[in-house]
Amino acid sequence: MATRIGILTSGGDCPGLNAAIRGVARAAYQTLDAEIIGIRAGYRGLIDGDYQLMQQSQFSGILTMGGTILGTSRTPFRNMRVVEEDNVDKVHAMKMNYRAMKLDCLVTLGGNGTHKTANLLSREGLNVIGLPKTIDNDIFGTDFTFGFHTAVDIATDVIDRIHTTAASHNRVMVIEIMGNKAGWLTLYAGIAGGADVILLPEIPYDIEKVARVIEERAKLNKNFTIIAVAEGAMSLEEAAMRKKDREAMWKEDEFYHVSQRIAARLQQHTAAEIRTVIPGHMQRGGSPCAYDRVLSTQFGVHAAHLIKEGRFSLSVALKGGAIGENKLEDIAGVPKPVDPEDQLVKSARDMNVSFGD
Ligand code: F6P
Repeated sequence: MATRIGILTSGGDCPGLNAAIRGVARAAYQTLDAEIIGIRAGYRGLIDGDYQLMQQSQFSGILTMGGTILGTSRTPFRNMRVVEEDNVDKVHAMKMNYRAMKLDCLVTLGGNGTHKTANLLSREGLNVIGLPKTIDNDIFGTDFTFGFHTAVDIATDVIDRIHTTAASHNRVMVIEIMGNKAGWLTLYAGIAGGADVILLPEIPYDIEKVARVIEERAKLNKNFTIIAVAEGAMSLEEAAMRKKDREAMWKEDEFYHVSQRIAARLQQHTAAEIRTVIPGHMQRGGSPCAYDRVLSTQFGVHAAHLIKEGRFSLSVALKGGAIGENKLEDIAGVPKPVDPEDQLVKSARDMNVSFGD
């Protein structure tokens, strides 16, 4: 009897999803008598029963493609057990559809939220394997998630391009990089792009200290400054507030984006011309870089091996450079913020990069 594998991609997309899907599929067809069922639009498709039996040919030519051939959606974990207006018991529906598809295993590609639901389904008795993707690189237990390195390359390219125009105009440029809860992307791209200031959610900033960097650089005749700021960066005052109050305050703020808030506050301390740049979802678009193609492929192939071995309730991971796995229950929803004492932060500080603290 064929081994029936369901695959879905959930949460924000990222480069490398198709490469990972292809890795699972090719290794599964190669090593198992596999049938693969593609589930549309993440857990939404599993709830609604929106799926199709895939043909082998559908996995050809997708290695370099950005996005996901299966589509994705955000179906928040916190609502999974909540019966909403449509009156659907989502967990029950997902279990019923798993059975209707006659699956032997479900492979879920996603971030922290996706892993939480994967763990829930595993506890409900389904065979589940997770693959960690996100440009944020904030999943506990894996050195890297796929998608991250591509986003680092894109954000670095943005900083590089901004550098030349900043220098020509003697401007302060505030570049807002994705990462609401974790600052890995900003930290890597900031270092790779030679940012003068790197502001992360994990290290609250003091705007006066950021302004001082601009002044000190001006004294050295460096009349431009590059500030790389993570989407979720916050000031010392904001960090002292309750999350709920802070978010409500930001919603009300004239400047919704952190880069704009920082620019407005900095302008009170400096006469320098300030501009903001928000590359936004560009950081999640396009073809995966070579590193992510390799990592995604390895993760996908490893998932197929686990299925062959009948090992489930796991999430594939990169650990000390080797492909392995974690128990879903150990890592599901566990964040991986930047440690302010991280070697990379220390190296940046030793290069006189300011974290605004
Ligand atoms: O988790 C990836 C991510 O790109 C974050 O960096 C960002 O905060 C969020 O997704 C944006 O989400 P959406 O695509 O729903 O706007």
